Amino acid sequence: MSIRYLEKDRIFWLDTPNMTYLLGIVAQEGFLGHLYYGKRLETITGAQELFRVTEPPYVPEKNDRDRSSFFDAFPFEYSSHGVGDFRESSLRIRTKSGHSAVSLVYVSHEIRKGKGKLAGLPATFGKEDEVTTLVIRCIDPVTKLEVELSYSTFEKVDAIARSVRVINGSLEPLYLEKVMSACLDMEARDMDVLTLHGSWARERRMERKPLGHGKFSVGTQRGESSHQEHPFLALLTKNADQTMGEVYGFHFVYSGNFLAQAETNQFGNLRVVMGIQPEDFCWKLEPGESFQAPEVILTYSCQGLGGMSRSLHDLYRNHLIRSPWLHKKRPILINNWEATYFDFTAEKIVDIARESAKLGIEMLVLDDGWFGNRFDDNRSLGDWWVNEEKIKGGLGELVSKINALGMKFGLWFEPEMISPESRLFEEHPDWAIQIPDRRPCRARNQLVLDVSRKEVRDYILDQVFRVLHSANIEYVKWDMNRPLSDLGSAALPADRQGELSHRYVLGMYEMQERLLQEFPNLLLENCSGGGGRFDPGMLYYSPQIWCSDDTDAIERLKIQEGTALIYPLSCMGAHVSVCPNHTVGRSTPFATRGMTALAGTFGYELDVTKLSDEDKAAVPRQVRAYHAFHDLIREGNYYRCASYLENHEYDCYQVVAKRGEAALVFFTQVLATPNMHSRCIPLQGLKKGTNYRIFLVNLDKEELMTDTGRCVSGDVLMHAGLLLDLPWGDFQGRLLYLEETP
Ligand code: GLA
Repeated sequence: MSIRYLEKDRIFWLDTPNMTYLLGIVAQEGFLGHLYYGKRLETITGAQELFRVTEPPYVPEKNDRDRSSFFDAFPFEYSSHGVGDFRESSLRIRTKSGHSAVSLVYVSHEIRKGKGKLAGLPATFGKEDEVTTLVIRCIDPVTKLEVELSYSTFEKVDAIARSVRVINGSLEPLYLEKVMSACLDMEARDMDVLTLHGSWARERRMERKPLGHGKFSVGTQRGESSHQEHPFLALLTKNADQTMGEVYGFHFVYSGNFLAQAETNQFGNLRVVMGIQPEDFCWKLEPGESFQAPEVILTYSCQGLGGMSRSLHDLYRNHLIRSPWLHKKRPILINNWEATYFDFTAEKIVDIARESAKLGIEMLVLDDGWFGNRFDDNRSLGDWWVNEEKIKGGLGELVSKINALGMKFGLWFEPEMISPESRLFEEHPDWAIQIPDRRPCRARNQLVLDVSRKEVRDYILDQVFRVLHSANIEYVKWDMNRPLSDLGSAALPADRQGELSHRYVLGMYEMQERLLQEFPNLLLENCSGGGGRFDPGMLYYSPQIWCSDDTDAIERLKIQEGTALIYPLSCMGAHVSVCPNHTVGRSTPFATRGMTALAGTFGYELDVTKLSDEDKAAVPRQVRAYHAFHDLIREGNYYRCASYLENHEYDCYQVVAKRGEAALVFFTQVLATPNMHSRCIPLQGLKKGTNYRIFLVNLDKEELMTDTGRCVSGDVLMHAGLLLDLPWGDFQGRLLYLEETP
């Protein structure tokens, strides 16, 4: 069993293949304290010393006059509020009498095989022989608030999933004003903090900086996980790089407002908390009612950032993404957004499909603009019926024509939105999230639907289902193009308005769940103005998420590097688009665009009927490379070899087959360097004592691969490096295939 309770020492001992996590029960009162989290320990004799309760500051029963010294320094497993620990609290309530304090003590625990679902929330899962779960029950003896702390360990992955359930065990209603999903107290070392920040078209840019005293936090109040900050934080020892050093990763399985914070206090204690953003959050709990907080993933690596990436990739591929498409090649799609924007007709779409089918593209996705009176982005969200002015004959006829070409068909929706100029708004103005007497702030001229309300969800899903049942639609792109503001729900009483943001997220999750129940084989791709809601929560519903509206191959190197830091390549929506690129105006070679998109789900986002003959001829070659290598890209281990963000010249990463028998090396010379003809890049993850034959993958030539005739050992490639002759010019890609050879 990977979770043990040592009765005599009152210690809980959690193990995964390479990490150990220890917590224990302390003092007569029964506080829960954190002992250790890091590299796997084989024996733990004497670990209790780390509680420091035998020397000052004493446990309260020995030194009640200095109770505050204990509270403000003890490494709590889940911090209290308002009783003498002045660091960040994990939980805050408001009782009928107006008090906010909470202090928890241990009551009981249970260790069981497997892992239960989290009511209404996405969460990791696993079979009984893959996961073990510890649930510790605590209580605040004064308010009778009960708290269940859950920890699940994975047999084969270095990850622990933590979550919290709060139950009002009192006889009066109380208000939950803050509930973190995880709290971790550690000894502060000289560490860096790494986060992912961004903006529209600039998602998940890595930022590393020294962690000092005080509080460092990232978070959002936009109602979605957001382009701006990511629900992720990692702490790194100073020596940590891709291959070495210690890394502690924290990732929130949630798609709404969040807070992730690291705090170093006066004694050099470090406290990390992660959970729902407390700002604007207030949840009323009637007696006996409970609140389930979402899950946080903890992962530790002593093999640097690369170790963390691979643990999270394996965790998400094996224990979070549920789609039947997870381990399958996705149909190569062509999306008409950048090809036509709103200006299309059924004939135009069929023209694109006809040309695409000839080139080996397998699915046509009709993006925004097919419904209501949607000739631009000012109107019609909520009016989910076909615009027959554009699509004469309706979707049934269009989809039949596309299917007749041998292609699948997919469709775009933005189900959570409402345009003030729409029939839906005329009929149900109160369905928009807004505050009475206050004009709600518009973004892209649209408002957000109050999907916390069941009747709203039912109505919208009815519309969506009706469309999806009307034709053979095998893929849906579910978009969400503005954040939440003006938080007000016409359906919630005054003392429950603070529940809206979380109820919204729960409502959206429920809608996606129902969509998948109705269409179990549907390929669902989530999206939010590009990658504004790219988070583990959404991966529970869709095996892929549109990474960014920025399809420029060079910008994508940065976006995909930040994304691949914590997400498997199999879930990164990536397409080839035209040049000059619509977002940055940059022109890059067609082959480089293809190579960058091949590192994700792969598809096209352009008007294929307008491509030059040369580019058109390259499409089947890229398609062929996708079929040849996608299994490896989707299922392999990812290694980052060089970062353009760091060296400002070139970018390089690898995907290696799980058993090391083959690898792909993606290299991009972003900026040409004068008087520099070759570069030697150490590879990773290959087999020692094995030779590899090196092939050049051709994305613009007749034959798929050219045998370079080179044969190099895994040891040489990993320790000396792979010698690459540098291409001529900027933005040039090189894709190499390495195969084990006797
Ligand atoms: C968002 C998406 C785009 C496209 C447009 C349509 O910006 O990210 O891919 O679907 O909406 O309005």
